[in-house]
Amino acid sequence: MNTETEKKIDELLSKMTVREKIGQLTQYSTNPREEGRIREMLRKGELGGFLCGTGCFNGDEEAAERNREYVNSLQREAVEGSRLGIPVIFGKDVIHGHNTVYPLPLALSATFNPELVEECYDLTAKEAANDGIMWSFAPMIDVSRDPRWGRCVEGIGEDPYLGEQMAAAVVRGFQGPTVEGLREHGNIAACAKHYICYGAAEGGRDYHKAEVSDYTLRNTYLPPFRGAVKAGVRTVMSSFNEISGQPVTSSRYLLTELLKDELGFDGFVVSDDRAVGQLQRQGVAANGEDAASLALNAGLDMDMDSMVYLDNLEKAVERGRVKEETLNEAVRRVLRVKFELGLFENPWATYVPTDREHDSAVARRAAGESMVLLKNEGGILPLKKGCDFTLMGDFYTEKLEQIGVWSSDFELDRVKSMEDGIKEVSPNTRVWRTDSTHSTVNANPAKGNDIVVVALGEGNLLEGEASSIASLELTEDQALTIRNARKFGKKVIGVLFYGRPMALEPVEHLFDAIIYAWHCGSETGTALADILFGDVNPSGRLPMTLPRVTGQVPIYYNLPSTCRPVDEYYGKEALLENYRDEFGTPMYPFGYGLSYTTFEYSFLRAKKSSLTMDEINSGAKFEIAVKVKNTGKVGGKECAQCYVRDVLASMTRPVKELKGFSKVYIEPGEEKEIVFTLGKDELSFYHADRVFAPESGKFTVYVGRDCYASDSIEIEIL
Ligand code: GLC
Repeated sequence: MNTETEKKIDELLSKMTVREKIGQLTQYSTNPREEGRIREMLRKGELGGFLCGTGCFNGDEEAAERNREYVNSLQREAVEGSRLGIPVIFGKDVIHGHNTVYPLPLALSATFNPELVEECYDLTAKEAANDGIMWSFAPMIDVSRDPRWGRCVEGIGEDPYLGEQMAAAVVRGFQGPTVEGLREHGNIAACAKHYICYGAAEGGRDYHKAEVSDYTLRNTYLPPFRGAVKAGVRTVMSSFNEISGQPVTSSRYLLTELLKDELGFDGFVVSDDRAVGQLQRQGVAANGEDAASLALNAGLDMDMDSMVYLDNLEKAVERGRVKEETLNEAVRRVLRVKFELGLFENPWATYVPTDREHDSAVARRAAGESMVLLKNEGGILPLKKGCDFTLMGDFYTEKLEQIGVWSSDFELDRVKSMEDGIKEVSPNTRVWRTDSTHSTVNANPAKGNDIVVVALGEGNLLEGEASSIASLELTEDQALTIRNARKFGKKVIGVLFYGRPMALEPVEHLFDAIIYAWHCGSETGTALADILFGDVNPSGRLPMTLPRVTGQVPIYYNLPSTCRPVDEYYGKEALLENYRDEFGTPMYPFGYGLSYTTFEYSFLRAKKSSLTMDEINSGAKFEIAVKVKNTGKVGGKECAQCYVRDVLASMTRPVKELKGFSKVYIEPGEEKEIVFTLGKDELSFYHADRVFAPESGKFTVYVGRDCYASDSIEIEIL
């Protein structure tokens, strides 16, 4: 915290009326239909932030310039037209790209490459800043173990540790490495959302209640937010859901005691869209004044879009339901971020040229590292450049669905379909399109064509907010297409463009090879072609378990052991079964992904196998080393993963928890040593009394290429 800034805030607060203070806690949409009212509110100091729409200029720089002028004209109303001239902050859902669209966040998690993800968001922030955006409502870091929940595609997957790393990478990408640098053009404030347990919605039904114990909340859902706070995130968005009867929007325990006091978050909390007013629908507020008082007293600083703060907080303060010091604390947090963004010196939207070619190359690299090779029987992939094949399925020429949900400022002319990518990477390839009803390939004149590629996917309307689905199996038409492809008696390659994990068991056996291609943004088609024809060796790993059937959900790897030896996630032989009608194992496990080469792990060891608790508490770490050799014929990136089991603890602990990963490029025949460090953070958990600390005792450490890793050693805290 900067003392100079705090003094400036003190000075401002001393001049502000109660209504002007409440104005800083009010965010509204830039709604052209209410232009006059909005401008008047700005002049009265009754608006502190905007929820922006901006728009799809599709490379039209004049349109983009007109937009900057519009944004600046609104800002001028506040800065030059209001009594105290406090600038307004423009926020927007910049979720996985802006003009250049990167893979969906879940797909970016599949890269297991935080440095690459940080680069994507650094470039995204620069493009958004050119459109006058100073604040993005991202990263969305809700751990999710239920692919029926449409918003799992916007998140970081099922794992707390992977989520923590990705959350920090996105915050650094948006904001830069330090808060001091936030004011530089091209850095924008990030927003860790949706705090908290939104991904635990019952039945995967969006907005529904989450029944989560404090123990599970802290050990499963909190780590990504801890990562974001440690990375310096400047805003947090509270979630719509309730947890065990308490809406997060009005939970002082969650918003103040845990997030602000315990984690030390010193930015501001913004509600989700109109969530403050919705406390009435949730039955804990009789009216707007109740809702406003409950939320502000809980520590919810800014009201998004419901106007409940502006319409009710003056009365609440007059009646003593809200103390003015509580109001001041919320305003302080909002002003602090505005000072850190440098808005008091330079509140204007300005343009700094970006390099579209460079950004597209990064998007192509990110898409290439997001896609996961799930199956490759007989090594039919990669294809030879110039080879012909039969193509079935409706995603071959698709563009709009490739860019994924929450993309509104994309440049469509730059989006590459699968067809575009193949034409660019293998121009001599002839693709014979056959619709799904064809049951014979004789109609296909392709000579020597022994491959059928099936390109299927899910549209954006079935993903994202308020888009949960009850069945994760492919549609009947899609299954028919695959069955017909199989009838051709050729090799069948599936390219699956789904943003969420799907339940593939009914069709998986019909494929010889499968590439899970998610929705990977502007460069989906080129990145896919790079993998199809071998220019890129696939290195993606699953950030969420792929179930066999919907009925297995929720299914995730880091489960505690049960009291009886059931046929657990890991497919161990067992006396008992999870189900009588289905395997207990997933279709594909967390962390899984194939390569065009093979890797061998050896010489797993701990440089020291025991440390005292004092050493651990003083910062000493276990060093776990392993050698990884590329035993195949082509170079490739391998993502070595380190899992830990706390063998005996005061609470049940997962049989495996990801606590380290490292992605390295290894040439054929080359061997590299990878070292993981396990210290206090990695070996701690929140105990029943909410203390976050390690316990002495033995830990089993597994290292391998996915959560089935079996090579293990033992370490001990004495
Ligand atoms: C939505 C979403 C949230 C988004 C906000 C503003 O309801 O829940 O993720 O940032 O409203 O669009």
